[in-house]
Amino acid sequence: MQPILRLGSVKNIRHFEEHLRSLGLTIPCDREPMRGNESPLCQPLLKGRIRIGNRIAVQPMEGWDGTADGNPSENTLRRWKRFGRSGAKLIWGGEAVAVSHAGRANPNQLVAAAHTEKGLAQLRAALFEEHRLTTGSGHDLLIGLQLTHSGRYSCPNAHHQPEPRILYRHPVLDRKLKLASDYPLLTDSEIESIVEDFHRAATLAWKLGFHFVDIKHCHGYLGHEFLSAHTRQGRYGGSFENRTRFLREIVEGIRALAPGLEIGVRLSAFDTVPYHPDPRESSQEKLGRGIPEENGRLLPYHWGFGVNREQPTDPDLDEPCRFLLLIQELGIQLVNLTAGSPYYNPHIQRPALYPPSDGYQPPEDPLAGVARQMRVTRSLKQRFPDLIIVGSAYSYLQDFLPHVAPAAIRQGWADCIGIGRMVLAYPELLWHASGGQPIEHKFICRTFSDCTTAPRNQLPSGCYPLDRYYKNSEWMPRLQLAKKS
Ligand SMILES: Cc1cc2nc3c(=O)[nH]c(=O)nc-3n(C[C@H](O)[C@H](O)[C@H](O)COP(=O)(O)O)c2cc1C
Ligand code: SF4
Repeated sequence: MQPILRLGSVKNIRHFEEHLRSLGLTIPCDREPMRGNESPLCQPLLKGRIRIGNRIAVQPMEGWDGTADGNPSENTLRRWKRFGRSGAKLIWGGEAVAVSHAGRANPNQLVAAAHTEKGLAQLRAALFEEHRLTTGSGHDLLIGLQLTHSGRYSCPNAHHQPEPRILYRHPVLDRKLKLASDYPLLTDSEIESIVEDFHRAATLAWKLGFHFVDIKHCHGYLGHEFLSAHTRQGRYGGSFENRTRFLREIVEGIRALAPGLEIGVRLSAFDTVPYHPDPRESSQEKLGRGIPEENGRLLPYHWGFGVNREQPTDPDLDEPCRFLLLIQELGIQLVNLTAGSPYYNPHIQRPALYPPSDGYQPPEDPLAGVARQMRVTRSLKQRFPDLIIVGSAYSYLQDFLPHVAPAAIRQGWADCIGIGRMVLAYPELLWHASGGQPIEHKFICRTFSDCTTAPRNQLPSGCYPLDRYYKNSEWMPRLQLAKKS
């Protein structure tokens, strides 16, 4: 593989276009992005019952910085204010909020419950106010809350004390998580009670004035695991109908209990097998390049959603299309497409030049990862024009994000451009770019992955290299130490 060209060294848009050509990638891009009301990013979106004031969306990003009982801390509040400052008129979920203590991905994740009602209301209000100050109006701002159960990645009580709740035995992930062959599966009645937790959490979100809840179906967490539960027996496994029962039951309850609340679904639209660092290239100093887990003996591959069973490193969109059809039949309009998982194939989910501490060196140019998610999103958007589709994984585009985002909207690759890491580093980037304000290149996210490495080492997530709040914090020396060890 050729050495990866650092995008920070690509000085202009023509050079960027040449670089894409040399990699054989197609990514739409405007040489001179339009500004002001002309910009596709500033166009409002009106579809069915939904109205969104512009095409910029903030992706959900948790910060591992809630209190032990699942309330937001000052750090959480600061992050949500910055989400508001982004100027985005779609806030997709804020961050993953667990529907129960047992379903938390870490002991500092937010929980939606009666005792956190005030805290969640405060987050929403602070975000709204900050948005109003930035854009001059709170009009057409759509705010959702992402609801989750962490399933296989539950870790509610102590860091480094995982308490996985699994739906079926996975030949690779069970081994990675060191689960015994008789590790208990969630029972159908436990699943029914989790469905009720979602109903309770959604009703709370409705009461607090959130416009929608996202029933998270991505990144290897519980909702996503249902979709690949081919080998599970009983009502929630096997057939497509059974594997989607969880979603249908949640939607049915929400419609009955919170009739004015919109529903969204964030979906890992495709996946691949788990990856690990190549041991032949790994040393004390450096992780090896990512290689797929051996899967030749596992064919046909029954343990993924949106993967080709005979060639599981390739996507297969047949079932994701069926799932989007179901979503449409359920009257859901809001869909956010992502891919893979941050735990077992992070290069698919969040393309980066520098790996997190539990990752591996990129097995491909990260631009290939961006182009893959964009291509799949475009193809699903073409097949489902009536859905509102948010695209993901744009942050790696760095200085060229303001060129790609409006082109992608104008050419119909997605309805909204969802940005994640870039918001941690430079919340206002697209707002500034589409408003014609100068770009502050020193704040552009360079995908150093510290926002992922920090929580893997029991520290709050944030942009340590570029956001002074983290750079000058007491956590910084601990992060540096963790990265060395
Ligand atoms: C620190 C961090 C926390 C994240 N937390 C969530 C989350 O709570 N829910 C979710 O659906 N995705 C989460 N993601 C994934 C992002 O929403 C997004 O899909 C990913 O970062 C790729 O987009 P980007 O290239 O714009 O960063 C997280 C990503 C990061 C970096
Ligand atoms: S730590 Fe900052 S620069 Fe690094 S990936 Fe996260 S947001 Fe980007």
